[in-house]
Amino acid sequence: MKPDFSPALLSSLVQRYGSPLWVYDAAVVRANIAALRAFDTIRFAQKANSNVHLLRLMREAGVKVDAVSLGEIDRALAAGYSSRDGESGIVFTADLIDRATLERVIEEEIPVNAGSIDMIHQLGELAPGHRVWLRINPGFGHGHSNKTNTGGEQSKHGIWHTQLPQALAAIKRYGLHLVGLHMHIGSGVDYRHLEEVCGAMVALIRKHAIQVEAISAGGGLSIPYRQDDPRVDTEHYFSIWNAARNEISAQTGHPVHLEIEPGRYLVAEAGVMLAEVRAVKEVGTRQFVLVDAGFNDLMRPSMYGAYHEISLLPGDQSVRAPRRVVVGGPLCESGDVFTQGDGGVVLERELDEAKVGDLLVFHDAGAYGASMSSNYNSRPLIPEVLIDGESQRLIRRRQTVAELLALELEAS
Ligand code: LLP
Repeated sequence: MKPDFSPALLSSLVQRYGSPLWVYDAAVVRANIAALRAFDTIRFAQKANSNVHLLRLMREAGVKVDAVSLGEIDRALAAGYSSRDGESGIVFTADLIDRATLERVIEEEIPVNAGSIDMIHQLGELAPGHRVWLRINPGFGHGHSNKTNTGGEQSKHGIWHTQLPQALAAIKRYGLHLVGLHMHIGSGVDYRHLEEVCGAMVALIRKHAIQVEAISAGGGLSIPYRQDDPRVDTEHYFSIWNAARNEISAQTGHPVHLEIEPGRYLVAEAGVMLAEVRAVKEVGTRQFVLVDAGFNDLMRPSMYGAYHEISLLPGDQSVRAPRRVVVGGPLCESGDVFTQGDGGVVLERELDEAKVGDLLVFHDAGAYGASMSSNYNSRPLIPEVLIDGESQRLIRRRQTVAELLALELEAS
């Protein structure tokens, strides 16, 4: 589901909070949660968008959360999540654990989803009895780009499937509590790979006769970024995993809990980035439309050649004919172009004629938008606004250059 923001609402938000700006729709997030209700647990991969107000919304809707850093753990705690007393509000997933994070997961009793055997040793030595998941690399992966493929030999993620016996032996040696197995082979998984990953999960549990309480399907559900992209059939998705879960339950002789761990699916479509056109220029045969947001704000096109739909919100009533243009930002770097393909090739895109002062809407930017932003070119992070029915709430204010400078000026 896409948000139904009116042009009047979007331009009034820019008038109030300035440009550029992120805007999210709570109703879309809730609808996406509802579409995955068949799973026993929906665990939000907050790396997609870790704004604490969105995390609160998730918690209130019964969604649990994944954390991949100390910062994400502290965000989850600030949003009211807990893993104490057997709760599993937060699970920490990673391929290594630094010392400060190790301390925090022990103190807060946060289950650890271990992607390396070293993590098991480090945790086991300090906290026998701690709950652990094993993240397994099944030997193959799939992603919307090489950078989001998290399985196979080129991936650093997960415990290699043939090393499962060593991981299980380490768990036993330290008296750790095994919760279950987890597989996340990438972002943008198709049904064929899904069948394969479910098959690998069933086969491993059978082969090693593992007494799991739960399995996790990881994330990876895609969303239609382009108008003709297919939408994931969440019932079909569930039915494939449910069949695997049933086979595993038959094998273990007790019910097995089924988790899913989406990031993008829950929040991507809910968000847009708004930016103001500040220059329109001809470069040879091409027209460049330059806006006040750059790849430091929305990095996906520069990082993955990812496609985001872009549309025009005209600042006046004039009729605008479509043109083929390149859309870029203000950064002092040639790759600061929102219309590019794989390998950084600059592409033209049809857009209604844009003039200085118009707003552009970058769609489907709620996932891996704000959360991947940086301060490159000393640009402060931009504000985030949450629309919930009639209410509009600033959920992150604009950062200031003074705040950036303070880190350095206060250092000495
Ligand atoms: N679980 C684990 C262990 C993950 O590593 C990830 C994503 C997810 C869940 C959530 O994946 P999703 O459902 O969002 O596809 N920045 C990239 C995506 C990187 C994903 C990294 N891990 C992008 O903008 O497409």
